[in-house]
Amino acid sequence: MQRFKDKVVFITGSGSGLGRQAALRFATEGAIIAGADISAANNSETAALVANAGGRIHIGNSVDLTDEASVTDWISKAADELGGIDVLYANAGATKFNPIEKTTLDEWDWVLKHELDLVFLPVKHAWPHLAKAKGSVVLVGSTAGVSGSMTNTRLAHSATKGGIIAMTKQLAGEGALHGIRVNCVSPGMIRTPATEGDLLADDHPMKNIQRAIPLQRIGTPAEVISCVLFLASDEASYVTGTNLMVDGGWSSVLPGFGVI
Ligand SMILES: NC(=O)c1ccc[n+]([C@@H]2O[C@H](COP(=O)([O-])OP(=O)(O)OC[C@H]3O[C@@H](n4cnc5c(N)ncnc54)[C@H](O)[C@@H]3O)[C@@H](O)[C@H]2O)c1
Repeated sequence: MQRFKDKVVFITGSGSGLGRQAALRFATEGAIIAGADISAANNSETAALVANAGGRIHIGNSVDLTDEASVTDWISKAADELGGIDVLYANAGATKFNPIEKTTLDEWDWVLKHELDLVFLPVKHAWPHLAKAKGSVVLVGSTAGVSGSMTNTRLAHSATKGGIIAMTKQLAGEGALHGIRVNCVSPGMIRTPATEGDLLADDHPMKNIQRAIPLQRIGTPAEVISCVLFLASDEASYVTGTNLMVDGGWSSVLPGFGVI
């Protein structure tokens, strides 16, 4: 399928995990990618993978998405070079997990900056380009944005991901005035470099969480990105303001042990 033939797709956090998978998949469907990441080395690896797969990708130097000057520099240069922006997949994020007793104000502020500022800034500066193209935006929430957890204590992260889901709805309203659709995917537990070294590590209580997931397994980046491509594409032309849970049913079905 070539759902994105010659469309310009901006991806944040393209150096790893879901962002890298998105760069590969959008490129396979004909898109021209502009990828931003704070790690220039990881982003170069993604660029090589996309190029090896026959795709087209533009990467610059390291972009710090929490820094407005860095974001405007990336967006203006890449949009000029590629001729605008049709899709923004605002995927990047970095976080810290702690229960309320251990969350300092500094840590709270840090998480808001690294999970909300870095979504707000690229959306804000890509917005005029998206309006011109009547484009679409996909944000990334989480099960953490819709459910609490006794195993994974992460107050600030829950606040930011809930905030992203709320931003999706508000931006869908404001975007409709300009012909821009805005949707969100909310992954559950997905195997990526971020979770492999942390929540899925051998000594972490979340390691065995798949028993509580109705589909009984950890998800893959490909399963999330299939939903991102759908929401970003014209196939979802009547979908805006939605939050699509990609979590194996985790946030919808109460934990249990099969039929009694
Ligand atoms: N993996 C999961 O299970 C899971 C579950 C729910 C939500 N998510 C969300 O999916 C998104 C991607 O997660 P992932 O697992 O691929 O993570 P990841 O750590 O593998 O990738 C995130 C990328 O964002 C980049 N990044 C972080 N801060 C940046 C900054 N200030 N400027 C530029 N780039 C920056 C990192 O360098 C990294 O390449 C995140 O928003 C995350 O919260 C992931």
